Amino acid sequence: MHEYLPILIVGAIIGVLTILFSGLWYYVKHKGQQVSLDRNMADMEIMRRLAKYAKPYWKQFVLVLGIMLLSIAYSLISPALVGRIEELIKGRFELSRLWTLVAVYAGMLIVSMVCTYLQSIILQKIGQKILSALRQDLFTHIQSLSHNQLNNIPVGKLVTRVANDTNAISMMFTNILVNMVKNVFILVGVLGAMLLLNYALTLMVLCFVPFLVLFTIIFRKLTRRAFRRVKDCTTDINTFLSENLSGIKITQVFNREHAKMDEFLEKSYRLQHARQQQMYVFGVFRPTVYMLYISSVMCLFYLGGRGYIHDSVFLGQSITSGTIVSFYLYISRFFDPIQMLAEQFNMLQSAFASAEKIFAVFDMKPELVDEPDAIELDHIEGEIEFKDVWFAYNPGEWVLKGVSFHVAPRQTVALVGATGSGKSTILSLICRNYDIQKGQILIDGIDIKHIKTSSLRRHFGQMLQDVFLFSGTIRSNIVLREDAFTDEQIWEACRYVNADRFIDKLDGGLDEVVRERGNNFSAGQRQLLSFARTIIHRPEVMILDEATANIDTETELLIQESLEKMKNIGTMLIVAHRLSTIQHADNIILLSHGEILEQGTHQQLLHQHGRYYKLYMLQYEQQERQEKLGA
Ligand SMILES: Nc1ncnc2c1ncn2[C@@H]1O[C@H](COP(=O)(O)OP(=O)(O)O)[C@@H](O)[C@H]1O
Ligand SMILES: [Mg+2]
Repeated sequence: MHEYLPILIVGAIIGVLTILFSGLWYYVKHKGQQVSLDRNMADMEIMRRLAKYAKPYWKQFVLVLGIMLLSIAYSLISPALVGRIEELIKGRFELSRLWTLVAVYAGMLIVSMVCTYLQSIILQKIGQKILSALRQDLFTHIQSLSHNQLNNIPVGKLVTRVANDTNAISMMFTNILVNMVKNVFILVGVLGAMLLLNYALTLMVLCFVPFLVLFTIIFRKLTRRAFRRVKDCTTDINTFLSENLSGIKITQVFNREHAKMDEFLEKSYRLQHARQQQMYVFGVFRPTVYMLYISSVMCLFYLGGRGYIHDSVFLGQSITSGTIVSFYLYISRFFDPIQMLAEQFNMLQSAFASAEKIFAVFDMKPELVDEPDAIELDHIEGEIEFKDVWFAYNPGEWVLKGVSFHVAPRQTVALVGATGSGKSTILSLICRNYDIQKGQILIDGIDIKHIKTSSLRRHFGQMLQDVFLFSGTIRSNIVLREDAFTDEQIWEACRYVNADRFIDKLDGGLDEVVRERGNNFSAGQRQLLSFARTIIHRPEVMILDEATANIDTETELLIQESLEKMKNIGTMLIVAHRLSTIQHADNIILLSHGEILEQGTHQQLLHQHGRYYKLYMLQYEQQERQEKLGA
């Protein structure tokens, strides 16, 4: 009996571990119900959609598969070779035979290394191509979303999708899938080789497999949670960063650094914790598999050694010293792929989770799509008409309530009214940033819904209160769209809007560097640049939204002057707080809570002695007072 004691001890240890792990599994399974881990999309569906990206490279994938099979040959044959060498050394030694065996071994090793190298080069190339295709599609898609849809997704989330999640998917193509296939082949191959060598010892090794499978299943359960948590925490941090780095100056101005730091630390700590948990799980799993491996090796030496000494024969196979050496090597080649498969399966799950998130973005159908028969407008006169327009950003909360007005070509129309009365909204609707719920908006008598959005927007020049400059140069910010302009044209535009005076003084002139968001220029300068940017394209309709607010008097005069000139270019819609700016408009529309109260020319409205009159008197008195103070 006592000769089976070592086997019993090994069995007992594995048994205890099994009970421990099963307990852990049970615990996590019940705790895990609070966290939803399930995906909405079936694996097959995700595979099908991903396959679309891999399809153009199917030839390369087949090539990789071929190369991979070659490299596997080494794993399968080398243990048998080593076994042969051991028998050769022990038995009738022949130097020439040793040389042959060693040469074959070395040759296979080199072939396998070259194959592995080629395989990873090809895969990396494909992976990067797929990655960039996916990234481009995603970015294009995000750009096609409407303002309304974009308002509802944090920028950081989109950054994570484009930067991190696409990466996980490319990893899947380059690394995970191929290695999974490789490991399955190795596993099957090694099993076959072991069976050929010795059934009895193979049976012994197979006894360990159920435990391996059980541990792997438990491991998968645990890592899935960890992976999911790491992913959520990463998105969370990215969202926080992208928002707070943009607003960092506000944080500094309001002395909120500590509060923000605490918030960040908390998020950072959660990510750290999630990653640690992930590591713990791996930290338990890998040694467990290693322990099973060592146990099986010990059993091999014990049982195999006994079989060798007693010269026992099983189904006609006897155990030689070479068999034991080969088996020893095969066992490690048997356990490795199983462990790797488990880990790769997890990574695959994680890649699927990423894919699902990306596809969720793809599945957001752009709300503002052109009608199939939408027309292209080459040229417009610049006539604008609102017919009983009703609009709400959120259902039921009407921001515009039955707004109607008409702007003849080349007229200048001003919108005035208190903050929140709906002026910016009207301007936004003309460019079809949002779709209206009721009524009609007509450009040159054509409903804007029947016009291609890109074609519509090409005829508009928008100048908004907060000018967005991209990092680049003055030139790149003025030219913006792909059209090529000569320096002469750019300078002409700058002169037209009085931007030339300050650009002239810059060392770099048109090539002066513009930093992110144009933070190395004053608000007034940015505004003048945005004017130049707009008029260089000679838009038929110009839209100015409080473009003259918060600007010093000197710059305002410049802007005032350029506005006068710009009136000659086309139709102009202006929102301005200072009524002096818009006195000469052909029509002034006074809005209040999304409804038009009064409209007419400056003189007409003054004669009415209505709301406009009051507003004007208020500003007039204020100005008088300021002038007195100044004097
Ligand atoms: N993206 C948005 N989502 C929801 N409500 C909005 C949005 N933009 C503006 N609003 C609301 O619409 C109303 C009109 O805003 P707006 O047209 O910007 O006014 P203003 O006359 O000051 O330019 C305001 O009450 C504002 O709160
Ligand atoms: Mg506004």
